[in-house]
Amino acid sequence: MRKPLIAGNWKLNGNWQLCQHFISKAAPEIIGGESGQAEVVICPPAVYLAKFSSAIAAASSVLKLGAQDVSAETSGAYTGEYSADMLEDSGVQYGIVGHSERREIYAETDGLVAQKVQRLLQTSVRPIVCVGENLAQREAGQEFTVIEAQLASLSGVLEGDNPNIKSVVIAYEPIWAIGTGKTASSEQAQEVHAHIRAIMARYIDVGELRIIYGGSVKPDNAAALLAMPDVDGALVGGASLNVEQLLSIAHEA
Ligand code: PGA
Repeated sequence: MRKPLIAGNWKLNGNWQLCQHFISKAAPEIIGGESGQAEVVICPPAVYLAKFSSAIAAASSVLKLGAQDVSAETSGAYTGEYSADMLEDSGVQYGIVGHSERREIYAETDGLVAQKVQRLLQTSVRPIVCVGENLAQREAGQEFTVIEAQLASLSGVLEGDNPNIKSVVIAYEPIWAIGTGKTASSEQAQEVHAHIRAIMARYIDVGELRIIYGGSVKPDNAAALLAMPDVDGALVGGASLNVEQLLSIAHEA
């Protein structure tokens, strides 16, 4: 049984007040669906992670923390970067890698994304690796090929006997659905998720692999998406800035 994962990516939004608001609202008993088992992860801007982590511990909250990115390097003259070790030190459990905004705006390549995943796998921080096609690729029917290439670039880092490899999460985020209000239908999501699971089976044991969907997930479309057999959670952008909306999505998991 795969534990549903609902991760909220705040992007460049929020402030310390919002972090505190989430802690005060997200009491353990209101997280999760009937099974009460969804993991709820907040990914605020990195500057809040350490303080947020202390406040979560002080409140005995069940919220978990994720970073939105990580350096591909471990240390050295890399101004502005922060390493996987530093995230672990700051109480972070998850790290988003290869979000389409990083790939598109900051020109991150598949190779760089793989290196970042590798860095996280050397720590206890679990990678959430984003893959997905853009609108032109979807219209040309190339979504499977694009995603297959993105996943193939991870093959090297998924080899070996590092036990952390089984902590990897894949997020399918069709770029045309991010921040557009246009969600993939639950059937479209299921089709791609099943394909991702089949591709990942070349590299790892996929029985426990969580594949989450991202792209305009809202309380009113979450139930249908999360009911799909290969949709193991959601990566939520806009709606994750509102604690009631994020928890109502988690209730559907
Ligand atoms: P959205 O963002 O929910 O606002 O579409 C999703 C994401 O970018 O992870």
